[in-house]
Amino acid sequence: MMPDIRNTNSTGQAMKRMAIGIAALAVLTGLLFLAAPDSFYLWAKAIHVLAVISWMAGMLYLPRLFVYHVDAEKGSVQSETFKVMERRLLRGIINPAMTLTWVFGLWLAWKGFAFQGGWLHAKIAAVLLMSGVHGYLAGAVRKFADDRNEKPARYWRIVNEIPTLLMIVIVILVVVKPF
Ligand code: HEM
Repeated sequence: MMPDIRNTNSTGQAMKRMAIGIAALAVLTGLLFLAAPDSFYLWAKAIHVLAVISWMAGMLYLPRLFVYHVDAEKGSVQSETFKVMERRLLRGIINPAMTLTWVFGLWLAWKGFAFQGGWLHAKIAAVLLMSGVHGYLAGAVRKFADDRNEKPARYWRIVNEIPTLLMIVIVILVVVKPF
């Protein structure tokens, strides 16, 4: 089968943009560390929370797009538009935001808590589940792109609730630290 040249080009551009974004953030993080070593923990936490917000926005929006995509006729302009929206949301926002959340979250857990605490272990377990849901949704984007989705809108409505519930648990664990 011939490779889809448009897809290959857009993947190349997305990788380039992501590499530039990561390099810019690495430089910014280095500068912050040099300028304010004493408050760097708080800066890292701010970046962590910003990444979390972006990740969660995408994780809550993607299954909602699937709900509408199911109703679009296969091959229609609407269906093809949903495919582009889903691919861009996944590659441009959800994937990089998850990576940043993990990198800064693990650094905070090491620096601030030496990986100790029941709340932290429970939080990491819940984030692993969230990452599993992320992987599942990424697989669904590929299925929708190939017009192979068989699941009804109701199914995606229910899946939509899983990241919401996990997010509530994670935020309570890290803010209240109940155990
Ligand atoms: C990837 C694994 C993650 C690890 C290892 C991690 C770890 C941490 C640590 C150690 C802190 C600092 C807590 C403090 O200074 O009191 C923190 C802050 C925070 N994390 Fe995460 N985190 C992760 C992912 C997430 C996710 C997925 C969410 C939300 C869905 C989240 C939400 C937050 C929030 C809201 C704060 C600020 C809490 C505060 O300042 O009171 N984190 N995280």
